[in-house]
Amino acid sequence: MNVLTPETRAEIERQRDRYPQARSAVLPSLWAVQHQLGYLSPEGMAEVAELLWLTPSEVEAVASFYSMYFDRPGGRHHVLVCINVSCALRGADEIVSHLEGRLGCPSGGTTADGEFTWEQTVECLGACGGAPAMQVDHHFQENLTPERVDAILDEVRAAPASEPHGPSLWHRIAVRLRKAGR
Ligand code: FES
Repeated sequence: MNVLTPETRAEIERQRDRYPQARSAVLPSLWAVQHQLGYLSPEGMAEVAELLWLTPSEVEAVASFYSMYFDRPGGRHHVLVCINVSCALRGADEIVSHLEGRLGCPSGGTTADGEFTWEQTVECLGACGGAPAMQVDHHFQENLTPERVDAILDEVRAAPASEPHGPSLWHRIAVRLRKAGR
């Protein structure tokens, strides 16, 4: 039985048909699965493989390479904190300790209320100029301090369920942080 909705399957087929080689559509297809399920389940990846005429292990190999793809269900929001060199030199350790205390779970964990899953990553997020940096639902947040982290988490937590990833949320956060001088 299919776990993907007809809409998700149609989106994967649409992506597949954009490229001369079906395998070129693996990344956007995985996004479509994650968008529907919240993570990449083995069943979801198997369907991607079927639709792109690949083996499941070929799809899983791509999925496991990128930290933006989640291999298990998580919280409503996902926080990824960079601890690579530039961020480490600019206080990533303090940010990690602060997040651990604030969210009440270690890296890789999910808060008791199911709002946040967070993890530290040694992969550079490509925002070294704004170190220390993190991503919240794939949006960059830079020049972090514990106070700035708290302000961001408060805003994200307060966002209505209908607006978890909307651009207006991130605009509002940027304006409020600027006004608060954070
Ligand atoms: S080292 Fe953290 S963003 Fe590059």
